[in-house]
Amino acid sequence: MGVPLPDQIQTAVVTGAASGFGAVVSRALHKAGFRVILSDIDEAAANPLAEELDLASETAVTAELDITKPEDFKRVLDKTVARWGSVEVLVNNAAVTQAAPVMEISPEDFNTVLTANAGGTFAGCQIFGRHFAERGYGRIINMGSLAGQNGGTATGAHYAASKGAIGTLTKIFARELAPRGVTVNTIAPGPMDTPMVHALIPEEKMPGLLSNIPVGHIGDPDFVAEMVARLAGPDAGYVTGACWDFNGGLWMR
Ligand SMILES: NC(=O)c1ccc[n+]([C@@H]2O[C@H](COP(=O)([O-])OP(=O)(O)OC[C@H]3O[C@@H](n4cnc5c(N)ncnc54)[C@H](O)[C@@H]3O)[C@@H](O)[C@H]2O)c1
Repeated sequence: MGVPLPDQIQTAVVTGAASGFGAVVSRALHKAGFRVILSDIDEAAANPLAEELDLASETAVTAELDITKPEDFKRVLDKTVARWGSVEVLVNNAAVTQAAPVMEISPEDFNTVLTANAGGTFAGCQIFGRHFAERGYGRIINMGSLAGQNGGTATGAHYAASKGAIGTLTKIFARELAPRGVTVNTIAPGPMDTPMVHALIPEEKMPGLLSNIPVGHIGDPDFVAEMVARLAGPDAGYVTGACWDFNGGLWMR
């Protein structure tokens, strides 16, 4: 119970781990010595990375987890605890990213995105947070976004509002769980060099995007993933309820 022993392999569950930033952060956590549960709505898509990290399925395994289903968080938690005894880290990474003009977003679409992104993070923080609090130790890292701070540019109001909600949920869970040895932080990147950004922004519009970013380039997902791994470590216990900005100077506090 409490802070893990130095020789204990800690287990991290990552949502949306099959592709994009989820895959990058899973790699970084594995490299940092964590056992990684690569969960995704599309479990099969996570197989190649799991096999690449550990063909023996001891330190990298896949799981089916749809963030819109709280029972999926519970099942993955229970199965992981049954096999390895505990979970120490949750990275709420998966999200639905949509772009649409605000006046054209239907109430249904708004609710769908809010439910998936903010609702999924809420379920993850609550379900894993209970396990962490019982053990007196845990690390939760929530993927927010610059869009949650400045309203977004390339993404829609539903996405931006969901990311704003994730920043608020982070603070609420951080306050609730701080006395139990559990930290909760938000990562807020601007555009990173990931497939999703290239899908949203066509190549011909990239120079326009870059000219608006003070540092003149988009973000390196490996660097952001290393920060997630740092926040996931036992020595990160004094950092909670914080929002970590990676935006090339696009938005300053
Ligand atoms: N890429 C960026 O530049 C950027 C910037 C700011 C924030 N973010 C945030 O980082 C996170 C990852 O972004 P990305 O670019 O890798 O996204 P992505 O869309 O490329 O990948 C999302 C992953 O989540 C999975 N997924 C989708 N719906 C799911 C569901 N209901 N349940 C479980 N898994 C589901 C997908 O299968 C996919 O593997 C998101 O939270 C996103 O908002 C990304």
